[in-house]
Amino acid sequence: MEPSGPRVVSESEEAALVCALRDWLGAGAGIAVQPIQAGFTLFPEEERCVSGAVPKRRKEFATGRYCARRALLELGYPAGPIPVGEHREPVWPPGVAGSITHTDETCAAVAVRLEDRGGLGIDLVEVRGAAAILAGAAHLIYSESEGRQAQSELPPNVPASAAIFCAKESVIKAASSRAGRFLDFREIYLSFSGPHFQAVILPGGWAANGCWRVTGRFLLTLAQCGHGHFRSSWAPTFTPASAR
Ligand SMILES: CC(C)(COP(=O)(O)OP(=O)(O)OC[C@H]1O[C@@H](n2cnc3c(N)ncnc32)[C@H](O)[C@@H]1OP(=O)(O)O)[C@@H](O)C(=O)NCCC(=O)NCCS
Repeated sequence: MEPSGPRVVSESEEAALVCALRDWLGAGAGIAVQPIQAGFTLFPEEERCVSGAVPKRRKEFATGRYCARRALLELGYPAGPIPVGEHREPVWPPGVAGSITHTDETCAAVAVRLEDRGGLGIDLVEVRGAAAILAGAAHLIYSESEGRQAQSELPPNVPASAAIFCAKESVIKAASSRAGRFLDFREIYLSFSGPHFQAVILPGGWAANGCWRVTGRFLLTLAQCGHGHFRSSWAPTFTPASAR
């Protein structure tokens, strides 16, 4: 079946997201961005994961798998199932790190070849919507000192709550296979530095690096945990002054 439904994310918005991911990950990465639409087909083992889901969830899941397959195709992998792991994570082919994210309207996936066991995470939020949802829930996501540090580094039009939330979600995705469990937001200590952020994952004492960018309505983050062949320009060494 051909995908169908209204295109609410413009082509220029999509192009800006692809451009940010390409800048960060370089020419060797597989990258796909796609409005969420009905009609993308799933492999039987993927279909089973959403057999009882509401149509909205099925649509976002299937669009995510479509994006992930497009990203893998850029790395030379033929289309195949991408199962769901124990902690909801997509299970990538051996030697590949990748990540999927969706908002209500759009979906993105990235995949890179990785020589070690590092993880990769991306997250996409609509800035205004995220800030509104997070109002009153900041204490679940970050400490006061993280909030102050973020606001001192971020431009005035980027609320600290949305940026910290988005960055931590990408860190959680990047670190989840290493942690072997769900990490909580407050188990991560985050610090922004210009267009980059650094994170300490407190239970393991691991470091993660990342970067963020606002493109129109959207805030996009990318995090890596472990040592891969990522661009060193956005992966500065980080020693936290205080990991409260
Ligand atoms: C895992 C988590 C970061 C996913 O975020 P989300 O809000 O669903 O947002 P996104 O749309 O950006 O990402 C969803 C995608 O992330 C991927 N994902 C889900 N869990 C993952 C994990 N453990 N590791 C890596 N990737 C994961 C999946 O591909 C998923 O899409 P799919 O199910 O359609 O394949 C989030 O649910 C989470 O766990 N947050 C923090 C933990 C928490 O909430 N603790 C509560 C304490 S009370």
